[in-house]
Amino acid sequence: MNIKCVCIALVALTGGFYACDSKKETDAFDPKVTELLSQMTLEEKAGQLNFVVGDLFTTGPDGKPKAPDYLDEAIKKGEVTGIFNIYGAEYTQTLQKKAVEESRLGIPLLIGADIIHGLKTIMPIPLAEAASWDLEAIELGSRVAARESAAAGINLTFAPMVDISRDARWGRNAEGAGEDTYLGSLIAAARVRGFQGSDLSLANTIAACVKHFAAYGAAEAGRDYNTVDMSDIALRETYLPPFKAAIDAGAASIMTSFNELNGVPASGNEYLLQDILRKEWGFEGLVISDWQSISEMMFHGYSKDSIEATIQGINAGTELDMMADLYLSFLPQLVREGKVSEAVLDRAVGHILQLKVDLGLFDNPYLYSDPAVEAKEIRSAENLEAAFEIARRSIVLLKNEKQTLPVKSTVKRIAVIGPLGDNQADMNGTWSFFAEALHPISFLEGIKAYAGPGVEVTYAQGCNLYDNSTEHFAAARAAAQRADLVILAIGESAVMNGEGASRSDITLPGIQQELVNQIAAVGKPTVALVSSGRALALTELEAKVDAILATWTLGSQAGKAVASVLFGEYNPAGKLPVTFPRSVGQVPIYYNHKNTGRPFEGDFSSQKLEDRVYRSRYRDVDNSPLYPFGYGLSYTTFEYSQPVLNQTSLTDDSPITVTVKVSNTGDRDGEEVVQLYTRDLIGSLTRPVKELKGFQKIHLKAGESRDISFELKASDLAFWRADGTYGYEPGDFKLMIGGNSRDTQEAVFSIPNP
Ligand code: BGC
Repeated sequence: MNIKCVCIALVALTGGFYACDSKKETDAFDPKVTELLSQMTLEEKAGQLNFVVGDLFTTGPDGKPKAPDYLDEAIKKGEVTGIFNIYGAEYTQTLQKKAVEESRLGIPLLIGADIIHGLKTIMPIPLAEAASWDLEAIELGSRVAARESAAAGINLTFAPMVDISRDARWGRNAEGAGEDTYLGSLIAAARVRGFQGSDLSLANTIAACVKHFAAYGAAEAGRDYNTVDMSDIALRETYLPPFKAAIDAGAASIMTSFNELNGVPASGNEYLLQDILRKEWGFEGLVISDWQSISEMMFHGYSKDSIEATIQGINAGTELDMMADLYLSFLPQLVREGKVSEAVLDRAVGHILQLKVDLGLFDNPYLYSDPAVEAKEIRSAENLEAAFEIARRSIVLLKNEKQTLPVKSTVKRIAVIGPLGDNQADMNGTWSFFAEALHPISFLEGIKAYAGPGVEVTYAQGCNLYDNSTEHFAAARAAAQRADLVILAIGESAVMNGEGASRSDITLPGIQQELVNQIAAVGKPTVALVSSGRALALTELEAKVDAILATWTLGSQAGKAVASVLFGEYNPAGKLPVTFPRSVGQVPIYYNHKNTGRPFEGDFSSQKLEDRVYRSRYRDVDNSPLYPFGYGLSYTTFEYSQPVLNQTSLTDDSPITVTVKVSNTGDRDGEEVVQLYTRDLIGSLTRPVKELKGFQKIHLKAGESRDISFELKASDLAFWRADGTYGYEPGDFKLMIGGNSRDTQEAVFSIPNP
């Protein structure tokens, strides 16, 4: 297929608006697809739109895993297009054989799965990977996941999740790339490249499904599945670009979201699925519903019954019905009655069959189910090494007073304390159903291995994750008392983040802060390893410990990666992809906010009359976050010079080159993420106080300085303007460069009137 409609690319990445001059009514399907369509009954067509969970586990409500005999029958009768959340080369081979040899038309199956951060070799959760700001590493993470999955018979992953979220209460932050649209778009594309490689029909690449379309991350109050009501400008500027970037990178499919958007559930939303996705963006791939999201339109109060939900879903453009069973039950009859056009049905079936062609399944239905490759690929040394490398790149050093880290050679007794210290299962993190609970390297194991025989490492659990018992406090205090260094392993368990895991309190769960307070009172140098799938409010913790590492959820190699950083083998270089608030009351808090008419940057305790009231501020907390977006320390230090611009006037024909000298002023080699932000001072619509426009991850030897240059084009400053068009505006701009979004060096430039 891939015959694109003629689209005018107004802006390639961040704007993501493509104006299509005509609606494309038909797709250029492969002859195999057309031939099959001509042979299929309405029931067989409806069967191709029915996607069911397998017999291993379920990932949604009312969904007991389907029984094997149900699956067998459904495959033979052509009532399912595929099965998801199963794996295994031999098992999937058997199912494919059944489909190919025992169903009337012999159409092979889609085998889908939520391969969010790995099948058996578990990478860090996506939010953690985003903290690496390392696109190559992230692409490799998805590549490894694709290789293992493909060998185990899976040909479609429900990933990447590219939902931008500015609300740490939302549990699914863990699955995305954080709060920023620019970074999120680059990561979305990297992940698609990783999963799909250069050719979907290869045995080691799988189809990506970019999700959840759209604005799912903006659920009111951070409560999962909640309502989204937002302006078209916010939608287009903040939430849609990562989808566009993934589609431009070739994503084969897209998943609708659970939420309603401005009164219309996403799975029945023609504006999203037709006007934007198909017409503006020219997307020719497959649109998959989320789990029962078509039937949920009844609960939203949008469809009066199953029949109406079916009509609204298919007509809006939701093509594959995941777990609602509506299309299979009602579409044939609705077509016969003329209530749904057969052309609409054919187009949807065409997209799914085309995907099966593109995956190479018609040429070889067993392409993805190779036991020999599976045995070689799963948890291979190479894959585990990749997971280790990505994991240590994902760690963010948030605090390091008195150079507590890296661990000094004088330290002879280490006490590892906390409920996540000797814990393997939670290291796998959310969406790791295929992983083995006892595979990951625990923090304790990693620390022992790196500490070596001359150092005594003890462990005390201190408290549990899920109750408030203090019975183990005394033993933990005693362990701290005997140690030269305490390493606290605290934070969220795997199930405290992910789907349906919103939290209204984003401080350390349970009794953990109390444990921290008790251990801090012992007075030993103390490092906190904070595991989480979101930004946490760590104000109390920050006041009590000497050093903090954000260790997110790091996957199979968690303990080794953390130890590598603790002991200085690797100098941490991760930077936060989300803003860490001081308190949950500041949420949503994000770096690229607007200025307001009464901005306030002072201290919340200021009693100056002009500060006290009539300012956009809180009375009980600063406006600033605890740790800003882009923040992360190193064991060395970096200094930035004033940025130097080759010219201060920016035109279409003549981009600005801005150069800054970055110096490693410490005594260790290290990596730094040099970040470029801009601010458009006056716009026809107001602009954020800063927006990320570029970054470079560089390595500098101790004492080394290097000139780092960015090129800034006029089109980089485009936005959705008051007249509804996308473009830049003449005027004055600020440019900011630094190692995080707060501490920057500034320069000014302008775009002259035409
Ligand atoms: C989630 C999706 C996931 C699907 C299948 C849904 O509950 O929202 O992200 O892909 O289940 O497991």
